[in-house]
Amino acid sequence: PVVTYVLPDGSERAVDVPPGQTVMDGSVRNNLPGIVAECGGSCSCATCHVYVDPESQAFFDEMTDEERELLEFSDGAQDNSRLSCQLVITGECEGVRVTVSAENG
Ligand code: FES
Repeated sequence: PVVTYVLPDGSERAVDVPPGQTVMDGSVRNNLPGIVAECGGSCSCATCHVYVDPESQAFFDEMTDEERELLEFSDGAQDNSRLSCQLVITGECEGVRVTVSAENG
């Protein structure tokens, strides 16, 4: 499915992310800026922070307590904040749209 990333500079990139990969993987593998993913996807660094568009939120599983706690301490956290390494793409995810936090660096 094609996932659109709104980058910290305001530009947009749409890339195909295979099912089973995460929103973080799709960014890193396509060399998009803004998602640092220091911990490599183990839900412990919060440098993969994104804001998920309201229409896209239902495609993903609920947050774990671990993710919620990490986000509580992240700069710029909002109601629609998620850690993109915890957002697994499925075949249903066509059109998912996320905004990459400018605070990941
Ligand atoms: Fe570290 Fe997502 S990559 S928490």
